[in-house]
Amino acid sequence: MATPDTQRIVLCASAALVDGGLAVAFEVCHRGQNLRAFAVRFEGRVHAYLNRCTHVAMEMDLREGHFFDDSGCLLICASHGAVFAPDTGECLGGPARGPLVKVFLSEEAGTVYWHTAPDLHTVAF
Ligand code: FES
Repeated sequence: MATPDTQRIVLCASAALVDGGLAVAFEVCHRGQNLRAFAVRFEGRVHAYLNRCTHVAMEMDLREGHFFDDSGCLLICASHGAVFAPDTGECLGGPARGPLVKVFLSEEAGTVYWHTAPDLHTVAF
């Protein structure tokens, strides 16, 4: 739920996120840096993270929107194969050093929203 310090921003229609399927990309400003983030659905729930690997600070999808491994159970970085839990962002293997940075999402009446945080804002144009 959004607090007075946070904003709830429309991300996409719920139907755009299919379990284990392609991600929806969006842009955020994290600690003053404009970065891409991605949202996925896993076991029915939506999750989002900064699109920045914790091995080398680079985007994880060489093919845009492809974050799940072949099993559909893990998020995988295409560069060197680090794997992460889709529901927590925890690193479960490979060369990465720690969890992905989570972006809080909510889902209501067929719409997915992302929430700003003290260090996470909309991108200023
Ligand atoms: S950059 Fe992601 S595993 Fe190396």
